[in-house]
Amino acid sequence: MKGIILAGGSGTRLYPLTRAVSKQMLPCYDKPMIYYPLSVLMLAEIQDVLIISTPRDIPLFKELLGDGQWLGMRFEYAVQDKPRGLADAFIIGERFIGQDTVCLTLGDNIFFGRGFSLVLKNAVHKVESEQNGVVFGYYVKNPSSYGVVEFSSNWKVLSIEEKPERPKSHYAVPGLYFYDNDVVGIAKNIAPSARGEIEITAVNNTYLAADKLSVELLGRGMAWLDTGTYDGLLDASNFIATIQKREGMFISCVEEIAYLNQWITQDNLLTLASSYKTEYGDYLRQVAEGF
Ligand code: DAU
Repeated sequence: MKGIILAGGSGTRLYPLTRAVSKQMLPCYDKPMIYYPLSVLMLAEIQDVLIISTPRDIPLFKELLGDGQWLGMRFEYAVQDKPRGLADAFIIGERFIGQDTVCLTLGDNIFFGRGFSLVLKNAVHKVESEQNGVVFGYYVKNPSSYGVVEFSSNWKVLSIEEKPERPKSHYAVPGLYFYDNDVVGIAKNIAPSARGEIEITAVNNTYLAADKLSVELLGRGMAWLDTGTYDGLLDASNFIATIQKREGMFISCVEEIAYLNQWITQDNLLTLASSYKTEYGDYLRQVAEGF
């Protein structure tokens, strides 16, 4: 399976923070935001990743992440010249995806929780064995700024609505989507919505109409954090800091995941550790030495 991180958009909702820099490059406590969705792909054991961003920001992402070799991965980059919608990622990524299945993550979505790696691996397995789509449902207090799942009385998924004024449930669809190769053709056939975007929700409804969409509910113990507002950003940073300080284990530490996945060696990890004169570097050393 291939991975795509969509890290473009105009970022206007966070002005002036994002006037000169991509939202997905902003700090979430001790790491750039894009580390979090990158770690999700890594936990799903996806090694080939396409990073899509604006013409302005692509050079910065290349400087931060390079060709991926330092993590035992392969990174490619592509430009989205205008925010045409989330499903545009599959059109931009057509050549990169080739004949493979694909997971799309939004560069500003942060997940954390026990058992999440298994959830991800199950999603990969399901899409690869059943050739369908897998998305998630996460209970939120105010679902109307998201894609929202409508269920029948026996929990069958009836529809997904994008930012409904009157949501039919509290289950929002987070920015993490797994699909078979049909998604490329489906994305190409989606007409822009009223807000002028080719919507991921339209992709999901196409899979649903073909009875090929699975919506997995994420339990209460999972955190899906909002980074769309100043307060959301601050809360996410505080959440990450609180857990990391309490447990002494880092959230979404990409070097650690690469090491545990055996994509880099202990020597590689120690070299990375010595290049950071920070607590982050100390942590990498601890991981390499087995705590
Ligand atoms: O976060 C999950 C939600 O993401 C889903 O529940 C919605 O169904 C989905 O439509 C999307 O909601 P938003 O419309 O609020 O997403 P937003 O416009 O904020 O874009 C999400 C990220 O993707 C953001 O970091 C910017 C980036 N982006 C967005 C668009 C439209 C791009 O890189 N390119 C784009 O064309």
